[in-house]
Amino acid sequence: MKNTLIAPSVLAADFANLQRDIEMINASEADWFHIDIMDGVFVPNISFGMPVLDAISKHAKKTIDVHLMIVDPDRFITTFKKLGADILTVHYEACTHLHRTLQAIKAEGMKAGVAVNPHTNVALLEDIINDIDLVCIMSVNPGFGGQSFIEKSYNKVAQLAEIIRRNKANTLIEIDGGVTNKNAKQLVEAGANVLVAGSYVFGAQDPIATIADLKEITK
Ligand code: DX5
Ligand code: ZN
Repeated sequence: MKNTLIAPSVLAADFANLQRDIEMINASEADWFHIDIMDGVFVPNISFGMPVLDAISKHAKKTIDVHLMIVDPDRFITTFKKLGADILTVHYEACTHLHRTLQAIKAEGMKAGVAVNPHTNVALLEDIINDIDLVCIMSVNPGFGGQSFIEKSYNKVAQLAEIIRRNKANTLIEIDGGVTNKNAKQLVEAGANVLVAGSYVFGAQDPIATIADLKEITK
């Protein structure tokens, strides 16, 4: 039996009722809070920033998984630690010295993640795979919730799982974008460990039951 982790993306929450939605995740079978930070430069959208994350951290009772879609993320590593991040994920495409950035994240006591855009080949991560706690495979172009899943992502998961095996690494594979009950099982079969789901969870009539269903079908 696999213990697939479910990480609802707060980007799809109702920001006028944020505390209610955080309590919903606390009460559900979800494992992590997935927090999308966008700067309007790395991606063509701005989500929310420090004060909102600070408010979320005060109520969230589960692991806080922060996905930085920002240029030059090194500027804010210490800040995100202070704001409550347990896992800090930076984009491969946004880091010139990725190895150094990962070491800086770990030096702050956080788990270090690397996200890859749909066009980035996961083979590029092989030389540093033993330094990465989590790879976030973007199964949509980052910047917006509610987009359709890119089918090619299954192959990327399988290819990355093979790289992790070959290097005897402990890296988790996370999938972000367009996750629903239609693709969850196949993603886990390909090797995914963590599923991020935004609009599928928050757009459901019953988000708690939807999270429970994702847990059940990925066992
Ligand atoms: C996209 C974000 C995702 C997004 C997922 O840039 O990184 O985390 O919130 O949303 P859905 O599940 O709606 O595709
Ligand atoms: Zn994300």
